[in-house]
Amino acid sequence: MTIGYSGAEKIDDLLDPAQGLVSRHVFSDPAIYEMELQRIFARCWQFLGHESQVPRPGDFVSAYLGEDPVMLVRQDDGSLAAFLNVCRHRGMRICKLDAGNAAGFSCSYHGWAYDRRGKIVDVPFGEMYENAPLDDSWAAVPVAQVASYKGLIFGTFDPDAPSLVEYLGDMAYYLDVLVDRREGGTELVGGANKWIIDSNWKYGAENFVQDGHHAFSSHVSALMAVQPDDAEMMDFPEGFTVRPGGGHGLVAFNGPALELTTRDEVLLKYHQDVVRPESARRLGAERDAIHNVGAFTVFPNFSFLTGFQTIRVWVPRGPHAMEVRSWTIVDKAAPQEVKDAQLRLVRTTFSPSGLLEQDDGENWSMCQDTLRGYVSRQLSSNVRMGLGAPLDADAKGPGRVMQGWNEEPGRGFFERYRQLMSEPTSRVWLDK
Ligand code: FES
Ligand SMILES: [Fe+2]
Repeated sequence: MTIGYSGAEKIDDLLDPAQGLVSRHVFSDPAIYEMELQRIFARCWQFLGHESQVPRPGDFVSAYLGEDPVMLVRQDDGSLAAFLNVCRHRGMRICKLDAGNAAGFSCSYHGWAYDRRGKIVDVPFGEMYENAPLDDSWAAVPVAQVASYKGLIFGTFDPDAPSLVEYLGDMAYYLDVLVDRREGGTELVGGANKWIIDSNWKYGAENFVQDGHHAFSSHVSALMAVQPDDAEMMDFPEGFTVRPGGGHGLVAFNGPALELTTRDEVLLKYHQDVVRPESARRLGAERDAIHNVGAFTVFPNFSFLTGFQTIRVWVPRGPHAMEVRSWTIVDKAAPQEVKDAQLRLVRTTFSPSGLLEQDDGENWSMCQDTLRGYVSRQLSSNVRMGLGAPLDADAKGPGRVMQGWNEEPGRGFFERYRQLMSEPTSRVWLDK
């Protein structure tokens, strides 16, 4: 135990991912959090929205890259663009709405007007800028790269970041279980849920990257509550993890798991009779188990659950808080009654009022609360489950596949985290 932490420049000393040791300072230290905003969130690809949210020119949704508010806007030519939702005059939000359709945007403070690309098209008393012209250098700051992977739209401020497909790497193979399981792709239904959890964003990301085993202690009472009174508690199936590289990861159940959380016949029958056969035809049988229930994190803060079909972003809100923004994702080709059932399931399990979500939120916020203590902060998190265990030699998919509950993807997450946090950003953002 090291007593006394004195600066973010020591980040390398705070993590030993190969040994599964992560100093708790990285969940609480304000200097480290500031470094994250620069070295993780100003350069990694992050989720901005889904194609189904912005089908027509002028459609827009708000999102975050780290703590930076951005707007994702469908352009007149059908392409996607995003820009910092910060007025270049005094910094007011250019648009205060979460979603809509607009020909352009007008800042509510002094009325500077921007087009769909974020260029200034009009300012009140424009003649008074005759000697200080508002040329394109005063446009809203563009998100350097915006790209879609099978309906999921991501963006990065870093023009030098690798392409989205490169960034996803082998994770794309597993992502397809969510977005490419049926002909016609996916869409979001039911709008967004947003809420604050008093814990660091990494508690959510790290849970979804690997943690199937917490269900056995965290969620038992919630799972019992959704079963009929006369039902016998089902056995928990075994699980496996995948560490595909890039800090991404997933955990999935090798047997029925959705049945533990719902008895909705419409939904269960759809998964069994429609999704799995079609997915096996489209993607091959080797990814089938992931349909049982899988939890995924695309580094750094985009996560989702197969089976439940919730996707979410853990938006950082200072070292001690995050804002969860979540949606329900369904197959476009699914009948309406299935879409309704899926939305109902997400609302009762993984939403602010959802039984399972509340279990998780309580755990994470109480983990965070113990970080208020000086001595508690000097400890390391133990991410050592399955350390040195053999990989699954028979696995057909890419990445490091490990059978049994383990924390191998968490070690991958923190490996990538340490790598990025140790590299100074060469670019100076907003140097204008
Ligand atoms: S802050 Fe936007 S017009 Fe002044
Ligand atoms: Fe959970």
